[in-house]
Amino acid sequence: MKGIILAGGRATRLRPLTKITSKQLLPVYNKPMIFYPLETLLRAGIRDILIIMAPDYAGHFLNLLGSGKDFNARFSYEIQDEPRGLADAFKVGENFIGDDNVTMILGDNIFDYDFTESIASFERGGKVFAKEVHDPERFGVVEFDEQKNVVSIEEKPESPKSRFAVVGIYIYDNNVIEHAKSLQPSARGEIEITDINNIYHEKNELKVELIDGIWEDAGTFDSLLAANNYWAKKAKEEGGQNG
Ligand code: DAU
Repeated sequence: MKGIILAGGRATRLRPLTKITSKQLLPVYNKPMIFYPLETLLRAGIRDILIIMAPDYAGHFLNLLGSGKDFNARFSYEIQDEPRGLADAFKVGENFIGDDNVTMILGDNIFDYDFTESIASFERGGKVFAKEVHDPERFGVVEFDEQKNVVSIEEKPESPKSRFAVVGIYIYDNNVIEHAKSLQPSARGEIEITDINNIYHEKNELKVELIDGIWEDAGTFDSLLAANNYWAKKAKEEGGQNG
């Protein structure tokens, strides 16, 4: 299983902070934001990781993360010239993925859930993760039956069919590369991860798992502050400053 951290984008909502560096390198309590998704992958046993970055601050990522040696892992890097959509990660990452399966995590999504079992039990198709939220219309929304079979999956629907947001970590088999290549840009000009999920869903190959614990998409001032507060409290409760 290969891992991708998608850490590009323009992050205009966090200006002027993102005039200094990339959103994914801003501090969340005692670590740069990207350490959280990175640690999520490492904790789940993924050691071969591609970091996809926008051109602007690519050097900052290299300075911080290097070869991966310090993390007992191997890091590769690719530039995404324009934010062409989340599904573009599988086109940018095609050579890196090779013939393997892949887990993709968004560089601004912070979890304390342990995905080890979910990744170890993955065989084929696609797997998404969901969490109940009060504002599902801001996210991908998944509707499912009692056996956790996906019934529908929609991107930011005006009238959500459930309160379960699709969170920013996805596991796919190698077909994801071809599926990504087959997509046309949506109305917002991006190739959408929700369209990938719908391809798997139509083939009856999409599973959903519910997660617990914190999930923060730290892309706004308020969610960034909430993530900082949560991890500061947690680190102190655990009796150290290391998170
Ligand atoms: O956070 C989970 C949500 O992420 C999902 O529920 C949605 O289904 C999914 O579409 C996505 O929604 P957002 O609208 O929040 O995605 P956003 O455009 O903010 O991009 C998420 C992160 O990915 C962001 O940190 C920037 C990065 N990104 C985004 C795009 C479009 C890239 O690196 N490259 C890109 O081309």
